[in-house]
Amino acid sequence: MSTGKTLPIADLPQDDPRVKQLNVKMKKEGYKPDALIEILHNAQNSYGYLPLNVLQYISKVLKLPPSRVFGTVSFYHFFSMKSKGEHTCLVCTGTACYVKGAQKLLDSIEGKFGLKQGQVSEDGKLGVQAARCIGACGLAPAAIVDDEVQAKVIADELIAKLTSKLQAHEQN
Ligand code: FES
Repeated sequence: MSTGKTLPIADLPQDDPRVKQLNVKMKKEGYKPDALIEILHNAQNSYGYLPLNVLQYISKVLKLPPSRVFGTVSFYHFFSMKSKGEHTCLVCTGTACYVKGAQKLLDSIEGKFGLKQGQVSEDGKLGVQAARCIGACGLAPAAIVDDEVQAKVIADELIAKLTSKLQAHEQN
């Protein structure tokens, strides 16, 4: 059903499954400001936290003053604008990804780095999170390393990627 409203000019990468999912959610809610909390929950699930540019995007699409969006985020303790860890690995554990081995990814991360979902390494360099469906089921099992969507992830490759991120970090 059309809402009669058009989406704004893209200022987030529209091919990012997380953005697509956010667009679908906002459309489903009829772009209603009253649905802000639900929309924020949806975004936080996909991103693991609420990045500044995502909040700006939501504010623009819902035609809400940024102060209202930021005020809501800071009012509720379950919202966070900070990523957990300088590097983040978010593993999708929605049904499609779970069936295709998301748990194996989490187990491998725990085996290599000693981190369970929701934990951050002691030095703060790596944070691991799990999310419900991030909107990329065709790419299952999917993960997001920093801001990069990883498709059809194989545990060894994911570990190698995270290891190289951490090593590059040390060299800088
Ligand atoms: S279940 Fe993982 S992207 Fe949908």
